[in-house]
Amino acid sequence: MMDNTTVEAKTYTLQSEIYREMNADEEHSVDADDDTFVIKNVRSVFRFKCQSMQPPNSDHFSVDEDGDLIVLRSPFSKAIVIEHINRTSLNMVGMQVWRSALLMGDFIMGNKNIFSGDQVILELGSGVGLTGIVAAMYCKEVVFTDIDNTNILSMIEKNIRLNRDLIVSRTTVMPLDFGEPELSDVLWTKLRDVNIIIAADVIYDNEITKQLVNTLKKIMAVSPMKTAYIGMEKRYVFSSVDLDVCAPSYEYFCDLLKQNNWFQVEILDCNFSQYFQYNKVKELVILKLTTNHSM
Ligand SMILES: C[S@@+](CC[C@H](N)C(=O)[O-])C[C@H]1O[C@@H](n2cnc3c(N)ncnc32)[C@H](O)[C@@H]1O
Repeated sequence: MMDNTTVEAKTYTLQSEIYREMNADEEHSVDADDDTFVIKNVRSVFRFKCQSMQPPNSDHFSVDEDGDLIVLRSPFSKAIVIEHINRTSLNMVGMQVWRSALLMGDFIMGNKNIFSGDQVILELGSGVGLTGIVAAMYCKEVVFTDIDNTNILSMIEKNIRLNRDLIVSRTTVMPLDFGEPELSDVLWTKLRDVNIIIAADVIYDNEITKQLVNTLKKIMAVSPMKTAYIGMEKRYVFSSVDLDVCAPSYEYFCDLLKQNNWFQVEILDCNFSQYFQYNKVKELVILKLTTNHSM
């Protein structure tokens, strides 16, 4: 399925909304197991704003020689290029780009004071690496991690190379599977320097969520100075038990965090500037986790 080979698939596959939004002219079928889809490697260009979209403040209006207002353009003058797959099975969703990756990208760009300078950032479930690449535009080092799958880890490396002109930080790519009982020695060595953890769209399967929370506990125990920012999309479904809509994966994650009483949890206001072009739906959230010092 790699290296631009095109294959036909008849397994259950799904496609990220981001890909659909960016390729509105392409024909998209709904997720189903009874159809044939073309699965291929693609490159997507994620343009982002480099200057404020805010209308000019009245104190700073500029006019031309005729006295007409000079309208400030808001150029999407830079872009991150990401190679990924256009649709995948559930166990390979990391080979696509998901909305939360762009939300976390916006969050990082809008909070450069948190992510710049000497920060060493660990990304969990990096997928094809978009969020980590944004972080690598500002901080000292980014450690990209995901399950030990050659396709995913080598795709992150490829995307780092594709965007090397934007990247200022040192980058490392290594396996980290939340399901593994022990973290590798190499990872432990790296963790000593990490002070920020980021993750986008890793809350969608309760078993993975449980393992993620245990992994966070292990990592954050190394130094209480670590802060984790977990971006996700609350995916709503109708519950026949409650006869109402609910976001089961998100609720399971919040319940686990509460049960543990190990983390201080803050739900961040996501009303920050949007730098990337995507549909920033209201279901997107970021949780900020710090360790509970009373423990
Ligand atoms: C929905 S994708 C999100 C990818 C990327 N962060 C994004 O937002 O575009 C979920 C990610 O979690 C990773 N993942 C799933 N199970 C995992 C595990 N047990 N350990 C580490 N990562 C895992 C997947 O490989 C995938 O990269």
